[in-house]
Amino acid sequence: MKRIVILFSGEGSNLVRLIEELHLKHCVVESAITNNPQAPGIAKAQALGVRVEVIDHTLFESREAFDAALVRAVHAHAPDLTVLAGFMRILTPVFTLHVKAINLHPSLLPKFKGARAIERSFESGERVCGVSVHWVSHELDGGEVIAQETFERSAQETLEGFTCSIRAIEHRLLAQTVKTLLQ
Ligand code: GAR
Repeated sequence: MKRIVILFSGEGSNLVRLIEELHLKHCVVESAITNNPQAPGIAKAQALGVRVEVIDHTLFESREAFDAALVRAVHAHAPDLTVLAGFMRILTPVFTLHVKAINLHPSLLPKFKGARAIERSFESGERVCGVSVHWVSHELDGGEVIAQETFERSAQETLEGFTCSIRAIEHRLLAQTVKTLLQ
């Protein structure tokens, strides 16, 4: 069975969905690695029987030093694919040149790269919004797009409803894309 490693930083709702849908069915989730010792996703992954590793970025003197530790941890599992699911660190070439990874981003790339993408898409007023999964490259949220799904917002949409629509698409799209890439 193919092996994946998942990187995350916070709630881990996408992490949980990936584990529930894929682990020991379509692939083995070898490890979930986080940069955030306080991430609520840690307990969620452990409860689902997945090993969690914490590499606290605040303990490193540079982005490159953190990325080197991250690369060592990922390579230790020799994964077929590494999946960034809510991993909120800017990565340097130390990582991007050495790890084959995909990233989930809550906008229709190339629109709204970077932080607060959901809020910025919402505030833009654009009718058609969506979610992207793309290859990780040296450019932030700039690698080749693998999959996108769109939705049309209603005229009275609130930020809360808009966020729910994005989350529902994310959960479905990321798991489906990982399955397809591993086939
Ligand atoms: C998701 O919305 C994901 O698209 C976003 O962080 C959230 C993580 O949620 N990622 C980015 O913005 C990456 N630039 P989760 O921890 O519940 O999966």
